[in-house]
Amino acid sequence: MERTFIAIKPDGVQRGLISEIVSRFERKGFKLVAIKIVVPSKGFAEKHYHDLKERPFFNGLCDFLSSGPVIAMVWEGEGVIKYGRKLIGATDPQKSEPGTIRGDLAVVVGRNIIHGSDGPETAKDEINLWFKPDELVSYTSNSEKWLYGDN
Ligand code: GTP
Ligand code: MG
Repeated sequence: MERTFIAIKPDGVQRGLISEIVSRFERKGFKLVAIKIVVPSKGFAEKHYHDLKERPFFNGLCDFLSSGPVIAMVWEGEGVIKYGRKLIGATDPQKSEPGTIRGDLAVVVGRNIIHGSDGPETAKDEINLWFKPDELVSYTSNSEKWLYGDN
């Protein structure tokens, strides 16, 4: 089953939004298979955002991601990579639709509270960067037969 990497950034943690964000993924029907709280180093943040290293905001972004606790998670479910991004909303909260996490809970692009992998390759790379294989838990949730039916 498909998996994606989701992180609640230091602003989301400091603002007390962990349970709000987790519950949106949970209620949708996605399954949490890994979670931890961690303060990433600046070097680790630079690895995570390596694709953006030429952008003018790269240094500030990496300073920010490494400024406090982050909740790192792996969520599993059919279509979770793409639909996770829908739950999150557009990068700039000024452009995110109401009903999305950033649309409802954030105001500016530099403090948009959550990260989600943007495709299958980045999901794999980010899961491997943030988690060791034995930190991921495979299990059957009781809801699965109700979420997915028999086929
Ligand atoms: P992530 O899920 O965090 O990767 O966001 P995204 O995929 O929606 O956007 P992208 O990967 O392009 O940018 C990564 C992060 O950089 C964003 O979440 C923002 O926090 C930050 N960012 C992107 N564009 C800007 C910008 O124009 N200015 C500033 N200050 N930050 C930006
Ligand atoms: Mg991104």
